[in-house]
Amino acid sequence: MVHFIKPVQDELQKNMEVVGQIEEFVGQAVDNILVDPQTCWQPSDFLPDLADKDAMKQVLELRERASGLPPEVITSLIGNMITEEALPTYQTFFNLVRGINEEGNVASEKGWVRWSRAWTAEENRHGDLLNKYLYLSGRADMKQVEITIHNLIYNGFDPRVDGDPYQAMIYTSFQERATKISHVNTGKLADKAGDSTLSRICKTIAGDEARHEKAYKSFMTKIFEIDPEGGLLAFQKMMKKQISMPAIMMDNATEDNLFTRFSAITQKMGIYTTFDYASIIKHLVQQWKIETLSGLNGYAAQAQDYLSTLGERYEKIAERMKEPEDVKLAWLVPS
Ligand SMILES: [Fe+2]
Ligand SMILES: [Fe+2]
Repeated sequence: MVHFIKPVQDELQKNMEVVGQIEEFVGQAVDNILVDPQTCWQPSDFLPDLADKDAMKQVLELRERASGLPPEVITSLIGNMITEEALPTYQTFFNLVRGINEEGNVASEKGWVRWSRAWTAEENRHGDLLNKYLYLSGRADMKQVEITIHNLIYNGFDPRVDGDPYQAMIYTSFQERATKISHVNTGKLADKAGDSTLSRICKTIAGDEARHEKAYKSFMTKIFEIDPEGGLLAFQKMMKKQISMPAIMMDNATEDNLFTRFSAITQKMGIYTTFDYASIIKHLVQQWKIETLSGLNGYAAQAQDYLSTLGERYEKIAERMKEPEDVKLAWLVPS
């Protein structure tokens, strides 16, 4: 099957060269889109100061506010937090994508490797903040939460990008937007339930995801400028495989699976739904001007057709989907 394997390898080689060409642009994004550690917000900005004289009063106030949150919101928030906590997996994944860190040195000063560090350093604050908030709130069964985080990192994650840097940039663009939507909607529900601090926390995290989304989309825009046909093929491949959520391997159980429960709750609560999946596809198609790319070869033109109507097809699926009925909650304090 050499005649089949060779073009795939050639394609990967070409994609690696293209991402090498935009290395400087990526380095600039670290300096212009990501935030300096000295001035960046930190979890302690949103949490009781336990070194303060009135620390316990601050904790009680937090618990009072959190007591009004519906259990569905707590489960969703925990699921979001667990997703954020599997950061070792995400940084490893990113550095293993071909063309990103070929020298195999995480301390490298090359643009892509600097990006991988600076991005995950920002992400690290998300899990820290939500974890500490939930711990102090007294609403989560922390031992079960910790076991789930342990399992998730233990099990790893395969976003099925096949080592291809183009597919990896499409995956991350999609995922950053998905997590932004999820945090924004959780924040809205927290606000509705009277927990304005949690709402501010969720919105602040969503603000980070928005910057990350902007950066990943801009990397992919550059790729489309240099290699529109390769970009289209990668986008099509990624969407045919579907974007799986990073926390999908949090539980190995075949029945009553924690990830399945988490997804059903976010769907039911309108935190992250199939409509959102469809809207993200539409947004990315528009962002990368997929419909107006011209002068394409046959395969790329086919990919363009496929992608141009994909968002609408998912919308139709979403309309037909029944809302999950009896959703079993997870990670709550046993009552
Ligand atoms: Fe995050
Ligand atoms: Fe992010």
